[in-house]
Amino acid sequence: MFITFEGIEGSGKSTAIKRLKDWLQEKGQGVTLTREPGGSRLGRTLRSILLDIGNNDLTGETELFLYLADRSQHVHQVIRPALDEGVGVISDRYADSTVVYQGYGRGLDPKILHQLNDVAVRGLWPDLTLLFDLEPEIGLKRAMTRNLQDGTCASEGRFEAESLAFHTRVREGYLTWAAINRDRFRIIDAAATPDEVFEQVRAAVADVFSIA
Ligand code: TMP
Repeated sequence: MFITFEGIEGSGKSTAIKRLKDWLQEKGQGVTLTREPGGSRLGRTLRSILLDIGNNDLTGETELFLYLADRSQHVHQVIRPALDEGVGVISDRYADSTVVYQGYGRGLDPKILHQLNDVAVRGLWPDLTLLFDLEPEIGLKRAMTRNLQDGTCASEGRFEAESLAFHTRVREGYLTWAAINRDRFRIIDAAATPDEVFEQVRAAVADVFSIA
């Protein structure tokens, strides 16, 4: 079982992920939670470089290769070993984030990004991807509040500092990419209440993995 969560900043993924983990464990399915960037030891260093607001001079290509390096290490050291042991994996972001942020957001070619992703993940694609869809205005407001509260504004705020136009391209890019990959994607209305959001998540997971 390999599930990924995608969506713009502030779409409420983290809360739903924790609830999904608890629910799956109640159903007897062991799961591990992980995230990108930063799911491996090397990845944690790459995360601090990628999200540091001081690194706003990275080229789009530099950013791309750092995300791919993070992903390759993550698959090799964390995701693949867990799946091989029969442990489910839930990742907060994965390869689709690269197609959407570096592709639809920054303007690199989504088709090439998909091919590079396939190399980085050695053909390992999720069984299910949940796209948390939300107006960027609402998501950014939520993300800013969270960053101010937990003090990660400067260390992790590089993408939140992007323009609304960028986040609008990201949101639309996600919807386009989800339509192209409709066999694997389910869209979650992330503007709903946390309980309603979780119910959509639970229903999608129960359906795809035939959990009663
Ligand atoms: P988050 O973990 O707090 O969501 O932050 C990760 C940020 O990195 C988020 O703004 C999306 C961005 N990102 C990319 O641009 N490309 C990628 O491949 C990934 C995994 C994340």
